[in-house]
Amino acid sequence: MRIHRLTYVSTAAANLQSTDVDDIVQGSQRRNGEAAITGILLFNGTNFLQTLEGEDAQLKPLLGRIQADVRHSGLILLGDGPCDGRAFWGWSLGYAGLNASRTRRAGTAGNGFDPSKLPQALPPELLSLYTSFDSLG
Ligand SMILES: Cc1cc2nc3c(=O)[nH]c(=O)nc-3n(C[C@H](O)[C@H](O)[C@H](O)COP(=O)(O)O)c2cc1C
Repeated sequence: MRIHRLTYVSTAAANLQSTDVDDIVQGSQRRNGEAAITGILLFNGTNFLQTLEGEDAQLKPLLGRIQADVRHSGLILLGDGPCDGRAFWGWSLGYAGLNASRTRRAGTAGNGFDPSKLPQALPPELLSLYTSFDSLG
């Protein structure tokens, strides 16, 4: 089955608490694991940047749910299409951002954004996107 990958940026709701971000990450890791979705979520305190990979049949409805989520708004898709394989193999949802040390799990990006912890198979354009995003925070 062909794997699709999408990447978007969005703006966190003004009243978003760090516990809300914890909830998003923990719930997403569980659901993504069940749906064979892999990816990463970056948060700089204002904006989210997320990459998700999986089968289209799983990814499309997930994007619909995420788009309808009031915890953020102004979602802009930066990329959406088939890819040669997963870059985030084994990552139900890596998290890099504020409060990351509390949500860190084996196989995630760890304590804040650290490019050296990203998967080796990451396409260079994604690496430069994440690095640019991080510098805006
Ligand atoms: C920035 C952001 C990223 C999210 N990422 C995911 C994700 O990767 N997987 C997921 O299942 N839900 C994610 N969610 C949560 C979904 O929007 C939604 O709440 C969740 O899928 C449960 O949907 P349901 O209540 O309709 O079952 C994210 C929400 C936000 C705000």
